Amino acid sequence: MIDFKAIFTEQLTSVLNGEISEEAISDLIETPKNQAYGDLAFPCFTLAKAFRKSPASIAEEAAPLIKGPYIEKAEAAGSYINIFFSKGSAGAVIMEKILREGKEFGLLKDGAGKTAVLDFSSPNIAKPFSMGHLRSTVIGNALGNLAEKCGYTAVRINHLGDWGTQFGKLITAYKKWGNPDKVKEHAIKELLSLYIRFHEEAEDHPALEDEARSWFKELESGNTEAQALWSWFRDESLKEFQRVYDRLGIHFDSYNGEAFYNDKMTPVIEELMAKGLLAESDGAEVVELPDEDLPPCLIKKSDGATLYATRDLAAAFYRKKNYQFAHSLYIVGQEQSIHFRQVKSVIKKMGYEWADSMKHVPFGLYLKDGKKMSTRKGRVILLEQVLDEAVLLAKGNIEAKNPGLENKNEVAEAVGIGAILFHDLKNDRMNSIEFSLEDMLTFEGETGPYLQYTNARAYSLLRKSDDLPSAANGLSDPYSWEIIKLLYQYPEKIRQSYRQLSPSVLAKYLIDVAQAFNKYYGQVRILEKDAGIRARLALVKAVTIVLTDGMQTLSMKVPRQM
Ligand code: ARG
Repeated sequence: MIDFKAIFTEQLTSVLNGEISEEAISDLIETPKNQAYGDLAFPCFTLAKAFRKSPASIAEEAAPLIKGPYIEKAEAAGSYINIFFSKGSAGAVIMEKILREGKEFGLLKDGAGKTAVLDFSSPNIAKPFSMGHLRSTVIGNALGNLAEKCGYTAVRINHLGDWGTQFGKLITAYKKWGNPDKVKEHAIKELLSLYIRFHEEAEDHPALEDEARSWFKELESGNTEAQALWSWFRDESLKEFQRVYDRLGIHFDSYNGEAFYNDKMTPVIEELMAKGLLAESDGAEVVELPDEDLPPCLIKKSDGATLYATRDLAAAFYRKKNYQFAHSLYIVGQEQSIHFRQVKSVIKKMGYEWADSMKHVPFGLYLKDGKKMSTRKGRVILLEQVLDEAVLLAKGNIEAKNPGLENKNEVAEAVGIGAILFHDLKNDRMNSIEFSLEDMLTFEGETGPYLQYTNARAYSLLRKSDDLPSAANGLSDPYSWEIIKLLYQYPEKIRQSYRQLSPSVLAKYLIDVAQAFNKYYGQVRILEKDAGIRARLALVKAVTIVLTDGMQTLSMKVPRQM
């Protein structure tokens, strides 16, 4: 692939007589916002001293000396040297590469032979899937896809919240008031209402709390009835979560949740003890973290019970041992940032440098009319209903735009879900997002449907023509050059997006590509039967390759017709 920056750097290094290092030159090169200032620009300010000349005269003298393959010209503009690459020849090389590589374009080797572990989604059994879990699911899966595009082996882990004293309460409530058919029909709804009823009744009958405690003890010590109920609640809840995962097109490599680590904590606690890291505090065992400026990490309660953090410690060791990860990501809301800093610090204190490769990836909230959106009691918004509503709205839009479309339901599902995915991912991870289905679903503006629609439009051009795409003779108009330059950046955008753990980098880039293509579509008669048609079709095809792969990387489905 042509490396424009390297070409320019090399030219400048020789023209500037080694007065400034290649590396320094490369760092100074900018990308002008406006095509009138060329494809890349170099500011001469820092050279004034060495050359004892004004930056403008340095630019004036150096520009005409820059020559070579793929270079159309270099120009001085004030204190800058602007370089223009030859649209025809460079464009053809880039398009050829994209058409040749197809789906492989943008596949990197950065992570070859390395593993990235991603802990995401991780909802709690018998509780509704919250909007926070939705964000974790969507961001986590996109990061998993980006990791794979960067060459890593991605291990997707659903660290289910399937352990804790609440299971003692659930078992108690179920045995008193439960109905198996209701649980089978609507597990989460039913289990949640049993849980709520438990708390209501426990206010008047505190003995219930003791019963719950003893059921949890039974569960911990392997009582078969307790175990069977627990595992049934877990299976039924998981079935419901699975329906959502299927619709979002998401799979996990492991559903080992908190319970899985029950028998894996002792060695960790023993090691902490042996290393003299455990301190006693009101009968509880903690690791103090004063140097890290963190509250003590609670390892064991005074009654001997282990905690969320203890299980995360065991999980971290288990993952390091089994996956030998290069890094391990936890895609979890920012309200847990102290927890993850504690877990990391404890592992570091135990002497394991790999603690630095554990990263908490937090994110902001979903808002509804400016207020935190919640799927909890009272205003329960069930995620499946949200998805259904999005799909219904999408169906309406399709009905209005293209009533004759064949597989309308399938497309509506792709568009409705894609809208939610994209709306989440185009925002910087830490921002809070207003959840407005109407805004997400418009076909104009920076939305998922806009991308899908643009891509389908490009596909329809390819279907309409009987000429074959060929990059060979290149294109020289400014609109296509804008697109080609953008397409060229795709691999680098994938890299950046993953390095910054920020799918929004990719999402925003795809919007840029779609906008550039729509501009082209508006200005140029793509299917005109002239000498340029095959090159124009090659450009259209290259656009579909990048848009399709980019959307799929964000977990979106990509209809060919809309
Ligand atoms: N189940 C937790 C919750 O819903 C999230 C778990 C995140 N992952 C972890 N390894 N702690 O808040």
